Amino acid sequence: MLKPLKPQERIRVRDKFFSLYISKERIDETVSGIARLIDHDYAGKTPLLLCILNGAFIFASDLVRKLETPCEISFVKYSSYHGMESSGKINRLIGLSENIRSRDVIIVEDIVDTGNTMAKLLDDLKQFEPSSLRIACFCFKKEAFRENFAIDYCGLVIPDLFVVGYGLDYDGSGRNFPDIYQLDKTLL
Ligand code: IMP
Repeated sequence: MLKPLKPQERIRVRDKFFSLYISKERIDETVSGIARLIDHDYAGKTPLLLCILNGAFIFASDLVRKLETPCEISFVKYSSYHGMESSGKINRLIGLSENIRSRDVIIVEDIVDTGNTMAKLLDDLKQFEPSSLRIACFCFKKEAFRENFAIDYCGLVIPDLFVVGYGLDYDGSGRNFPDIYQLDKTLL
């Protein structure tokens, strides 16, 4: 029988060290709590979960498996490309294949930091006139938040730390750790 992997206290991702911050057990309890709230609020409905790639893929896959409410899931992401405009970088929402008009949409995001990304996403999605639009977010850096939208289902409020694991990356790496780690500043 396969033994569960023992969480490492300290990990290295690329050129940085990180220390264990949120255990996978705590993550599991947190996701279960969010699922129970959604089950309660969406009884009799079939919400469409919109997973924001790349970071939210693990959270979204755990969340859908804990939901008792029938639901659908779809995946979107922001692409950035350099257009002809002088402004340079343009972020465009790609992958929205479902018609979300009149649907109960729940955005599933890994982390809200300043909130800029989510504020833009809310604007982009509202123009498709969903019947309701809510946010489920695993981590929320309340101290860094600069916007004024509400997070309907918030997993954990964390300080303004840089974290990796459970889908969150440092320069593309570290998403696969089952626990969440914080940047170890003492080792820099
Ligand atoms: P915001 O627009 O400032 O809210 O940033 C949101 C995005 O930044 C998230 O979707 C993540 O991709 C990324 N991000 C913010 N904080 C962290 C972190 O601590 N670790 C990894 N990615 C982060």
